[in-house]
Amino acid sequence: MTKPFVFITRQVPEESLVALKVVADVEVWPEKETPVPRELLLEKAAKAAGLYTMLSDKIDDELLNNAPNLKVVANLAVGFDNIDVKTASEKGVAVCNTPDVLSDTTADLTFALLMATGRRIVEAAEYVKEGKWQNWAPLLLAGTDIHHKTIGIVGMGRIGSAVAKRATGFEMEILYHNRSRNTKAETELGAEYVSFDDLIERSDYIVCLAPFTEDTKDLFTYETFKQMKSSAIFINASRGGVVVEEDLIKALEEKSIAGAGLDVFRQEPISKDHPLLTFSNVVALPHIGSSSVETRHEMAALVSRNIANVLKGDKPEAIVNEEVLG
Ligand code: GLV
Ligand code: GLV
Repeated sequence: MTKPFVFITRQVPEESLVALKVVADVEVWPEKETPVPRELLLEKAAKAAGLYTMLSDKIDDELLNNAPNLKVVANLAVGFDNIDVKTASEKGVAVCNTPDVLSDTTADLTFALLMATGRRIVEAAEYVKEGKWQNWAPLLLAGTDIHHKTIGIVGMGRIGSAVAKRATGFEMEILYHNRSRNTKAETELGAEYVSFDDLIERSDYIVCLAPFTEDTKDLFTYETFKQMKSSAIFINASRGGVVVEEDLIKALEEKSIAGAGLDVFRQEPISKDHPLLTFSNVVALPHIGSSSVETRHEMAALVSRNIANVLKGDKPEAIVNEEVLG
């Protein structure tokens, strides 16, 4: 009997595919960094039972409507805004993601970005490498404190909570805003639930970890940045689409805020000519939130199990649209 066909849109760790290969015929797009061309993705989707996808692959209605055998789309990410979940559900296609396994790693990166931006770590390291360090000076590359400051977390899910936990070690006051109350974060981490406006006005560090949805699209506008303290630092580790980038640029130009640490952008990858890169108080990273070797291997293994489980008719560990399981 022929096994169902699974197409993987990028090279992933080989050992993470062992379990999947037992139940499926697997083909891997053989590039590590270049995305699979759209035409080829459509061609493969047309005959695939499973797609193993990256957040840079657009899994839209055009693709889903021309994939008669498709049973599962499994993303190597916790976010799944690249997938048209509504259409997938209508077609009975399971959509899977990789929550939990990446929460601590992504929180580490988010906190590192916060610290790097607050204490001007990247700027200072470049200063040394460029041979600019001639003298010690009292306020040389003086940054802003992290300990005992107020952190405002927008999106208090698993990653947000893990960031809050790190903030407790720095004795920060923790505010959060979320669609729903997170009582665990309130009782265990002392986080205070506040309105979005309160959070924006009171926080020294505003950290966005909210998923990208219709509700969070363009959430951070010029008005939002104007509302922040002029000493505030904005950190985004969710999706670029939550920020109106021209507005952030304007706010930085006008010094309405003190800096920004960004792991995500509206259009990724950004080029070196992106206007946000002209600011010395912006730390920009190439969307590496969950990128530790350990976690990327765990994520890859989870994606494989998700696909294998759906193909075997079992419940996958992480599914976004459980209703399709019937
Ligand atoms: C990364 O951004 C993810 O959604 O896992
Ligand atoms: C989102 O799913 C999160 O884990 O924060």
